[in-house]
Amino acid sequence: MSRRKPERLDRLLANLGYGSRKDVGHWVKEGLITVDGRLAKSVSQKVLAETVRVEGEPLDHPDGLTLIYHKPTGSVCSHKEMGVLIYADFPEQWSDRKPPLSSVGRLDKETSGLLVLTDDGHLNHHLTSPKHHISKTYAVRLDSPLSGNEQEIFAGGSLMLEGDEKPCLPAEMRALGERKATLVLHEGRYHQVRRMFAAIGNRVTTLTRTHIGALSLDETNLAPGTYQTIEPEALIKRVSPREEDIH
Ligand code: URA
Repeated sequence: MSRRKPERLDRLLANLGYGSRKDVGHWVKEGLITVDGRLAKSVSQKVLAETVRVEGEPLDHPDGLTLIYHKPTGSVCSHKEMGVLIYADFPEQWSDRKPPLSSVGRLDKETSGLLVLTDDGHLNHHLTSPKHHISKTYAVRLDSPLSGNEQEIFAGGSLMLEGDEKPCLPAEMRALGERKATLVLHEGRYHQVRRMFAAIGNRVTTLTRTHIGALSLDETNLAPGTYQTIEPEALIKRVSPREEDIH
């Protein structure tokens, strides 16, 4: 989201998570806010985000916020799940932003790996829409040894998961060892990797998302629980497949 139009000072700061509109009123009175280098006069003053300073500091990502994050195991992506939220790894102020910072899809509690968060609805749609062919790659460790037919079953496009109405889209599995594999998915269903292996009688013991499209967790150098901000256009470039990989 780009903030090129002037907007009310209190609304702007409240939407960026600084505090309530009432708080902004106090800060104006205390002389903590400047606009274009001069003390702000009123909360209703229309301002351009780039001209505002709070205690001398420019505003925190006024034009939108997008992150790539290394989700650790043990935290949850949704307020509806029990457990520590991934949002505990980000500045508290970000939890009060509007539009909110949301994860693009989810990783379950026991899954680690690459996750994108954004407040940009278009970016979220771009990354999840099948039209853009952005695959997800997982590193999988299994309870029982691979039996040898998994690759063919997953690639066949007829594997039904319990409770689903349509079979899974073809997915590419590569065995890396007796109990180790990578799996590339072209859709995102609830607990899909775990359910795919369960459907053929195995159990996933460790699961990590290693790639979103062409972007790999390794190349980000992010330790578990850490993140970096990125511009939406730069992210799209990094995740997008090359033409020759689509056709
Ligand atoms: N598949 C799963 O089973 N869990 C995830 O978190 C992602 C894909």
